[in-house]
Amino acid sequence: MQFYDFSFDIDELSTKPNCVRKNYMGTSAKMVVILCLFLFLGMVLPGIFFQPEASLEVWNVQESDYPSNSSSEERLTYLLNYTILAPSSYNSQPWKFNVSNDEIFVFADESGWLSVADKDKREMYISLGCAIENLVIAAEHFGYNCSVSYFPGEKDLVAAVSLKQQPEAGSSSSALFDAITSRRTSRQPFESRVISRQDLDALNRSSSCSDVSIFLTEDPAAKERFRDLVIQADRVLYSDINYKSELGHWLSLGVMGPTGVGAKIAQMEMVFLDPVPEQIRRDADLINSTPYIGLITTKKNDSLSALKVGRAFERFWLAAAARGISLQPISQALEVPETKEELTGLLSDGAEMRTVQQAFRLGYCEEEGERSNRRPLVDALEKNEK
Ligand SMILES: Cc1cc2nc3c(=O)[nH]c(=O)nc-3n(C[C@H](O)[C@H](O)[C@H](O)COP(=O)(O)O)c2cc1C
Repeated sequence: MQFYDFSFDIDELSTKPNCVRKNYMGTSAKMVVILCLFLFLGMVLPGIFFQPEASLEVWNVQESDYPSNSSSEERLTYLLNYTILAPSSYNSQPWKFNVSNDEIFVFADESGWLSVADKDKREMYISLGCAIENLVIAAEHFGYNCSVSYFPGEKDLVAAVSLKQQPEAGSSSSALFDAITSRRTSRQPFESRVISRQDLDALNRSSSCSDVSIFLTEDPAAKERFRDLVIQADRVLYSDINYKSELGHWLSLGVMGPTGVGAKIAQMEMVFLDPVPEQIRRDADLINSTPYIGLITTKKNDSLSALKVGRAFERFWLAAAARGISLQPISQALEVPETKEELTGLLSDGAEMRTVQQAFRLGYCEEEGERSNRRPLVDALEKNEK
């Protein structure tokens, strides 16, 4: 049997004549390039081919296509086209639905749970609450009476929405309904223009719910404090390789920002480069440009409270979108225990609900950003799982 010895002595190498040395170096450099190419393609190509089929088509849902003469199940399924346009943390779309004759069951799809950024699943339940609110608004628009029971059964079943068609009902609440297809997350700097008292009152009224409070502040000291907490949180989060890997994974799926090869490059930049300075600069600019900071609070700190926050938040967001007002959720300070604790200090002293569930910025934006895509509805339909 013949053995090959691939080891070499670096001293021996350096004593060889130049031409031989060149040959050694040339071969190894080529090998390194080829190896890198294989590694790169190995990481990039499967990532591209296995990217979920997500598209912007979902935003073209038309009221006129509502199948009013079809079966109840088909009509309820149509409502889900509006449900999946809800915002969700990292656009993770952590929902599944099961449609029966007169009920829609909403399940948490934990493959969309961000176990590093969102340890207590707060953002996952808020996202599910946003979807439930879209469903209720769309259903009411098409003449249904809705009642929602929360956590009515097994663990993943977060809500059962029962829908009764009203015999004489026509379309209602069209401003919020229309805003479902125009709402989006605004990641541009805001104008310094203030929002009229009348509009602010209307936003508060539209989202009023006895278990949830939405606190808005334009106080410069509060905004500065909020900005500093976000920066502090950015430093912690974007230096944590587990956080960066999780964010990188969602970027690579092409559901947030770039798609295709761009999504894989965004993932590699997130994982291999140091994003802290750029992230801090960007967040500071965004918050400095913002006329209002909002904090959504509840009394309790449980999954049901987070679901209700999601519903109130989405209603508030749609009411804002209907008035041409832009919004961006800002979650970083809630994802680090120390900064989350400090956010409570921004609330007014007399505030009764002191568990901060979500933060956001609110204002006018000259140019809205691009739309984000969604998985096709069929991927979110769960059959016979009640
Ligand atoms: C609970 C929750 C937390 C979010 N946190 C952030 C955030 O920290 N920064 C951000 O830019 N967007 C945040 N978003 C917005 C999502 O990224 C956005 O909804 C998703 O990408 C879909 O885009 P769209 O809202 O434009 O439809 C959050 C959304 C939800 C529901």
